[in-house]
Amino acid sequence: MSSHSNAQTLLLLPGDGIGPEVTAEARRVAEIVAPDLVLEEGLLGGASFDAHSEPLTASELARARRSDAILMGAVGGPRWDGAPRDKRPEAGLLALRKSLDVYANLRPAFCFPALASASALKTALVEGLDILIVRELTSGVYFGQPRGIETLPSGERRGFDTQSYTSGEIRRVARVAFELARRRLKDGRGTGARFGGVLSCEKANVMESGVLWREEVTKLHQEEFGDVPLTHMYADACAMHLVKAPKDFNVILADNLFGDILSDEAAMLTGSIGMLPSAALGEPGTPGLYEPVHGSAPDIAGQGAANPCAAILSLEMALRWSLRRPDAADRVWRAVDAALAAGARTADLGGQLTTKQMGDAVIANL
Ligand code: IPM
Ligand code: MG
Repeated sequence: MSSHSNAQTLLLLPGDGIGPEVTAEARRVAEIVAPDLVLEEGLLGGASFDAHSEPLTASELARARRSDAILMGAVGGPRWDGAPRDKRPEAGLLALRKSLDVYANLRPAFCFPALASASALKTALVEGLDILIVRELTSGVYFGQPRGIETLPSGERRGFDTQSYTSGEIRRVARVAFELARRRLKDGRGTGARFGGVLSCEKANVMESGVLWREEVTKLHQEEFGDVPLTHMYADACAMHLVKAPKDFNVILADNLFGDILSDEAAMLTGSIGMLPSAALGEPGTPGLYEPVHGSAPDIAGQGAANPCAAILSLEMALRWSLRRPDAADRVWRAVDAALAAGARTADLGGQLTTKQMGDAVIANL
């Protein structure tokens, strides 16, 4: 937080691939809806590796900590495939998430009315879809120790990772899911859904960490959230149900790995992964990290073809959750909605607009 002035700072970390193209459009939107916001720009991922031989430098991390919010573009690409694993672009992003302790990753899957027919699913299944995935982001198999690749006496190699969760890690992210579900139900969102409150998923049938996950979520529910409906489901069944009847869900709570997979799946329900924003939040008063759910898309990078909506909607989430500017956030949301309603489409949505033209279409509706 900026302690010595009232000015709020948004740090842009465009990253790699289509990251710079889509964050440039979010930046233009920010300059209009929050002209007093101090915008800074830094390096993350491959871009940082090229400049400093590190995917996240200590000084960039320090600057991120001092910001009120961070808007990331995307990281990674085949160019850095040969880099040592701890120097890869993704390692920079994981270090940023871990260092900021942004453990609760909010990934809304919302189907804009104009895009209902763009989904791979039948329109009726996704029309009016409004679900929220809460993904644990700073623990689990992404970070568990030990991990590595070793050579066995037989000469065979063995790769291993550790899936690990403490009760505290489970409880703190579950609390966020319950609180958000409670608030959504109060706002009339997801009230008609079959699993109307929190749907928590794991693989308690085969994993010890899954057993603990289920126990801790159940306990917390009994202690503090008896008014919010809770359902448990195995993660594989959840993946299946998500394409069978997506509107049965309201808030889905998942660990880091299952949440990663389910959020890509949920993205396709809404028409395109190019539409989905996300917010990663830690304790109150600490900066949030905002990222499009899509990756760096090296196949279309540099062509001006990427959809900037996920980045623009990530800005919308930053305005809402970290910068406490709900009016500006509403304005951005309505502009995206109106641009889509007027027929603005990038290639991923079956249209022909360039990244910048899509940005123009949103800005024209602000
Ligand atoms: C995501 C991405 C990241 C993840 C990668 C880029 C490390 O897939 O944010 O969903 O796996 O968390
Ligand atoms: Mg992912």
